[in-house]
Amino acid sequence: MDDLRDKYLGLIGEAGDEAAIEALRVQAVGKKGEVALKMRELGKMTPEERQVMGPKLNALKDEINSALAAKKAALADAALNERLQAEWLDVTLPGRGRSAGTIHPISQVTEEVTAIFADMGFAVAEGPQIETDWYNFDALNIPGHHPARAEMDTFYMARAEGDERPPHVLRTHTSPVQIRSMQDQGAPIRVIAPGRVYRADYDQTHTPMFHQVEGLAIDTDISMANLKWVLEEFVKAYFGVDDVELRFRASHFPFTEPSAEVDIRCSWEGGVLKVGEGDDWLEILGSGMVHPKVLEAAGIDPTVYQGFAFGMGIDRIAMLKYGIPDLRAFFDSDLRWLRHYGFSPLQKPNLHGGL
Ligand code: DAH
Repeated sequence: MDDLRDKYLGLIGEAGDEAAIEALRVQAVGKKGEVALKMRELGKMTPEERQVMGPKLNALKDEINSALAAKKAALADAALNERLQAEWLDVTLPGRGRSAGTIHPISQVTEEVTAIFADMGFAVAEGPQIETDWYNFDALNIPGHHPARAEMDTFYMARAEGDERPPHVLRTHTSPVQIRSMQDQGAPIRVIAPGRVYRADYDQTHTPMFHQVEGLAIDTDISMANLKWVLEEFVKAYFGVDDVELRFRASHFPFTEPSAEVDIRCSWEGGVLKVGEGDDWLEILGSGMVHPKVLEAAGIDPTVYQGFAFGMGIDRIAMLKYGIPDLRAFFDSDLRWLRHYGFSPLQKPNLHGGL
């Protein structure tokens, strides 16, 4: 019996996992284990021998069982310890800097522009990038033979062969959103419409896809004076200067009458652009009083309502404000460029915090 005890206590001490423990249990104290076999021998003994051997065998069985249980608990402890070591985490480590990516200058400027016009009571309107030629041209008083259609370098969508309907276009400007929002909301109305536009053009300051923001204010008593004030407020807030001088230059757009292109006074001294001083003028947008035919096309009575509209290049004013020399790089998705010119995702522009 001593041999049996030494054998199993030794084996239990060496057992490396729960499976080994279970195998030992079966082998030692299971129904057909060595201790059970010994107990069967009790039957062949004299009553005196049995009285001595019986309790001894039971005690051995108990001793092996508790050794098994102790070893099992020790193994579980060791496993837990190992897991705690492996899954240890230092929650006091500092955060991981700016690895999260950046806000693209176009998104940033769109937010800035939206914040400024929202403060003046303009809501944001949207329209589709794939337009019918009616919304993109006809409704804006640009008939089929008008040279503006050719000048715009329009992308036309393909039609199935035999389909005689005029093709859809990739919108060449955000002006069709004027028509859509007047149709939806009627007058009075005050909206801006930022978004993507498309023209077949490619050089340092032109890409086939670029961004504009349209402005539209229609009511019963709106004049060019309101247009001038709104644009001056915008330029002051956007470039962060108190004194700006705008120059309204007579121009022509089919959808406005009268029409004006707007320049701001600036200097380029030393190759650095400064807004609000100097002897140069920089064109930033087209504008005018909405043409009666445009109001009519959108279902608004031009004998009651009138108003102004403008269209501004977002990419262009982003290049100007942030000193970005080449427009093409905006859309190359070069990570080095994005990290350099991008903005922190945690700094959303608003008038209160500063633009
Ligand atoms: N749609 C014109 C363009 O893309 C810009 C423009 C000019 C918009 C005058 C207007 C406007 O709303 O009144 O060149």
